[in-house]
Amino acid sequence: MKFYCMENYDEMSKKAASIIASKMILKPDCVLGLATGSTPIGTYKKLVEWYNAGDIDFAQVKTVNLDEYKGLPEDNDQSYRYFMNDNLFNHVNIDKACTFVPNGLEKDSAKACADYNAIIKSMGGVDLQLLGLGHNGHIGFNEPSDHFEKETHCVNLTPRTIEANKRFFASEADVPRQAYTMGCQTIMNAKSVLVVVSGEDKADIVAEAFAGPITPQVPASILQMHQDVTVVGDKAAMSKLMDLLAK
Ligand code: F6R
Repeated sequence: MKFYCMENYDEMSKKAASIIASKMILKPDCVLGLATGSTPIGTYKKLVEWYNAGDIDFAQVKTVNLDEYKGLPEDNDQSYRYFMNDNLFNHVNIDKACTFVPNGLEKDSAKACADYNAIIKSMGGVDLQLLGLGHNGHIGFNEPSDHFEKETHCVNLTPRTIEANKRFFASEADVPRQAYTMGCQTIMNAKSVLVVVSGEDKADIVAEAFAGPITPQVPASILQMHQDVTVVGDKAAMSKLMDLLAK
């Protein structure tokens, strides 16, 4: 694993964006696996900036997102499709028909998951998968568990996640109870993985995930088995891991 400990959030975002941009330059028709959440927003901003400067081109890029709430339409501002349009796709020359997010409106979970697995396969796999990291070590919506889920599946959101997400909705009752997410094996099948982490509140889980035991109780720990993972974080998030690695 490669670790980059950057001065602050802006430097972290620049570094992560430069890794994505170099993939796009080397392979203009690359498949990018994308994430939502607050951490990658700065990374997407940088990519938009470099697109506007004429440095990168999304014309042939294809994307697959990690996850989507079940039951939210695309135009709901809390859906992950909305997030992606708003933070990246609406601002660059990507063909939206080549951007994929699990279909939150598909009520039949087995069908939604099988369709998404087929889409990922038809693209020939993911060249670079961007990930954020949850406070409990989750990646996508793969929450701590007694086993690693393999492919796209439907998850019941934990009371903690519902509680954490309710601030984005009118009331707790409006928070979706389920989501579709890529599985850990799908994530591990990506040729390269880029994890972004920011803030002191992530320092413990960053150390646990990348220097602790590999266990489904910390889903991100499985990334230690991947041959090409880069973790880019700000100092606050990376401090404890860096201390451990220096010992
Ligand atoms: C996002 C996702 C989540 C987030 C994680 C970290 O698509 O799947 O796993 O990456 O919850 O979120 P932030 O970046 O908001 O701390």
